Amino acid sequence: MFRTDTCGELTSKDIGKTVTLSGWIDTRRDHGGLTFVDLRDRYGLTQIVLNPEQRIVHDAGKKLRREFVIQVKGKVKQRPQGTVNKKWKTGEIEVEALELNIISGSLPLPIEVSDIAQSSEETKLTYRYLDLRNPQLQQNLIARHRITKIVRDFYDRHGFLEIETPILAKSTPEGARDYLVPSRVNPGRFFALPQSPQIFKQLLMVAGFDRYMQIARCFRDEDLRADRQPEFTQIDVEMSFVDEEDVMELHERLVHEIFLQFMGIELMLPFPRLSYDEAVFRYGIDRPDTRFGLELFELSDILSQSDFLVFKSVVKDGGIIKGLTVAGRDFSRSELKGLEDFVKIYKAKGLALLRVANGKLEGQSAKFIAGPLAKELVSRANAKDNDTILIVAGPQKVVNDSLGFLRNHLAEKLALVDKSKWNFLWVTSFPMFEWGEEDQKLNAMHHPFTSPKLEDLGLIETEPLKIRAKAYDLVLNGIEVGGGSIRIHSPQVQARVFKALGISEQDAKAKFGFMLDAFRYGAPPHGGLAFGLDRLVMLLVGAPSIREVIAFPKNKAAVSLMDGSPGTVDEKQLKELHIKIEAGKK
Ligand code: AMO
Repeated sequence: MFRTDTCGELTSKDIGKTVTLSGWIDTRRDHGGLTFVDLRDRYGLTQIVLNPEQRIVHDAGKKLRREFVIQVKGKVKQRPQGTVNKKWKTGEIEVEALELNIISGSLPLPIEVSDIAQSSEETKLTYRYLDLRNPQLQQNLIARHRITKIVRDFYDRHGFLEIETPILAKSTPEGARDYLVPSRVNPGRFFALPQSPQIFKQLLMVAGFDRYMQIARCFRDEDLRADRQPEFTQIDVEMSFVDEEDVMELHERLVHEIFLQFMGIELMLPFPRLSYDEAVFRYGIDRPDTRFGLELFELSDILSQSDFLVFKSVVKDGGIIKGLTVAGRDFSRSELKGLEDFVKIYKAKGLALLRVANGKLEGQSAKFIAGPLAKELVSRANAKDNDTILIVAGPQKVVNDSLGFLRNHLAEKLALVDKSKWNFLWVTSFPMFEWGEEDQKLNAMHHPFTSPKLEDLGLIETEPLKIRAKAYDLVLNGIEVGGGSIRIHSPQVQARVFKALGISEQDAKAKFGFMLDAFRYGAPPHGGLAFGLDRLVMLLVGAPSIREVIAFPKNKAAVSLMDGSPGTVDEKQLKELHIKIEAGKK
């Protein structure tokens, strides 16, 4: 028997017992005659004492080094007074070793295994299997397991079936590039790894499964950020005979259950719902963090009447002017420069600053704003003495993006965020389409299978940008944790949407013909959603990046430093796949 107990369970109740433990040496300390070893496994730490009176064991102890795997048989004893460690579950006891067996040695570690690991990100990812010995990372993955289990049980109770969908498949558009897999037996043809199981889950509804869920791996070739990985996991769901409210209502109950069971926190239901238009109007972006104020307000009507030519011409050219008020705070010249540089990331040309002092406006552009206008502005900005108003003028998207992200930036900088809050919020009624500046055409804001609000459908040929979709996102503290929609189930409506997106009939047939066909054989109304499991777990455990909740993540360049993938393949494999690498690209 390798062990009778784990390193995380012995307490004063076990005093007097003879036990066997196995694990890794976390630390080893020589204290005069006695040697102390902290033995670690997934469950915790136990202090082992090697007493010189047990000569063989004590001598063997001299060979011990950190991260050796050992087995110890010994007696559980009360720790001497004053040496109890309250931080450990096993902190009241120690095990005096009677037998010691070195199972595996270890080289000195290239990284530090501890809660406050100092090693570089690169080394940690290269030796990920060692980094994963870090108790914090282990706790994160245990949390991920717990949360996934709560999720599966919830859906099971509500009649959902977990059904796996293909990994080798046809492209499913979710707005990113595909990862492609060449087919050896079909030269020149490729599978695409799914960006999501979207099309398959809809086909499962056509097949009559009624309620589907899957903890689904998704693959997207896109620029990476702290909350994005090239392969990530969704809690993926589809339901038949439902409308928007049905999906949202069930899923806020799921979130409620996760919080209650995992965090012991009772969330208030229902979560607030905010239309996309209102979210963008008040917060600039469609995933507002509502833990703090700093709401935006429109100033186009007021400032277009000012004598400031920049403001006037922006409005004349169809742009807008918006602002936000920072209460009781002035900004130095260099601070303002910093904020200006920040909004320039979002293509803003500049950032105007007005300050309220003795009921009057101060600042470079104040002289262009006549008395009554100034009064109106101060009232719109809800500003008091010593408050600062920050203003951006420009095209609508630029103004909203720059002020929206500036709002988040300022809240962090000025410590306005109440970190104890869990602010959930549904954003609803997204626009169906958005104009793609790069490709100069309409694109689907969600995905092309999302249903327009039927009352807006008539606008599809004339004013498509005005159409709202039956789409919803769940936002937590400013992070999009999930999104979904009611889908199109009519082949005619789907064809009109493809047409609006500039997808020709031929193209639609080649790409999604099987789906359009399926809808001709009795398609139920259906809809669903997907949560980013990695993001949800990241937020629940308070990790700074989803890499901290994924066992083997990629780095920012989409490379796995541990196994060196993506790697090269030999000529023979390429030949079998009929693939040639361009000269100079190897
Ligand atoms: P969407 O593309 O919004 O919807 O994705 C759903 C959720 O998945 C998470 N997510 C990611 N997490 C980590 N890394 C990524 N690269 C990444 N991309 C997305 C986000 C996001 O909210 N098929 C639809 C869902 C549906 O309509 O049912 C879909 O995939 O948390």
